[in-house]
Amino acid sequence: MAKELAGAVAVVTGGSSGIGRACARLLAARGAKVYVLARSKERLAAAVEEIEQAGGFGEVLVADVASPEELAQAAAKVRAAGESVDILIAGAGIMDLGPADQMPLSQYEAMMRVNYLGVVSTVQSFLPLVKEGRWKRIAIVSSLAARVSPPYFGAYSASKAAVTGFAHALRQELAREGIRVTLVHPGPAATPLVDGYIGGEYYPVPPGVPVISPDQVARAVWRGIQKGRREVFVPRRLAVTAWLAGIAPGAVDGTYRLLDRGKRGK
Ligand SMILES: NC(=O)c1ccc[n+]([C@@H]2O[C@H](COP(=O)([O-])OP(=O)(O)OC[C@H]3O[C@@H](n4cnc5c(N)ncnc54)[C@H](OP(=O)(O)O)[C@@H]3O)[C@@H](O)[C@H]2O)c1
Repeated sequence: MAKELAGAVAVVTGGSSGIGRACARLLAARGAKVYVLARSKERLAAAVEEIEQAGGFGEVLVADVASPEELAQAAAKVRAAGESVDILIAGAGIMDLGPADQMPLSQYEAMMRVNYLGVVSTVQSFLPLVKEGRWKRIAIVSSLAARVSPPYFGAYSASKAAVTGFAHALRQELAREGIRVTLVHPGPAATPLVDGYIGGEYYPVPPGVPVISPDQVARAVWRGIQKGRREVFVPRRLAVTAWLAGIAPGAVDGTYRLLDRGKRGK
């Protein structure tokens, strides 16, 4: 029986690690040829090898999403191969946490460049190819932190709130052309991004919030793409948390105050 994505082409930014790599594996297992895009050639090659060992097709695109020129070259490489893009997943991202007043401005800027402007440039570079594709799907990986901004998350949350604002507008503009945009808000996931942070001073995980696997996120991204969902929270119940944070920000303050007191034993 033919796989559901047989003949389809996907591009996954951040495809060499964590959530992006899990998305790339999942799409390749369903028959898509997957271009994985990131900066480290070695880690990209390892991701492609993993895909190919599982019987799929992968290709490396080395590019920094903070460079519109490198992204344009990456898109040109896909075009030169005579391919369009059915599914684009913008998953590349970075995170740095710390006190708002001590975090260097350069770090605020770096997260804006990658997490926000990097997604804008990714969409601008690959959109012509998505318009020519059959599936016409874009998934943008934001974060629960776009909607719930805990202490020490200021710079990261701001970059994710920026990309969230972008994605909501983009979805409405592209709907006219039959392109569906799915905005994904994962909660904490066990990936290299959070190594050294999670459970520590700047990243206490509130009780009841699970640390999920990148594969769980990838499955939710895929369901969102298949159904053309506007927004996906992973796990789903975090949608309630996001809504509550919007209407009762004091509840978020109270939760993190309690966590802080618990940590200090007060
Ligand atoms: N893990 C979580 O708890 C969590 C929760 C919510 C949302 N997210 C979001 O999910 C996405 C994936 O994160 P992850 O947890 O899977 O992190 P990860 O394991 O650290 O992977 C990040 C990926 O992005 C790539 N990347 C980083 N900067 C890049 C740049 N300038 N240009 C091109 N590629 C770049 C990395 O490769 P190179 O370094 O080689 O470029 C890597 O492939 C991010 O947008 C993150 O903000 C993560």
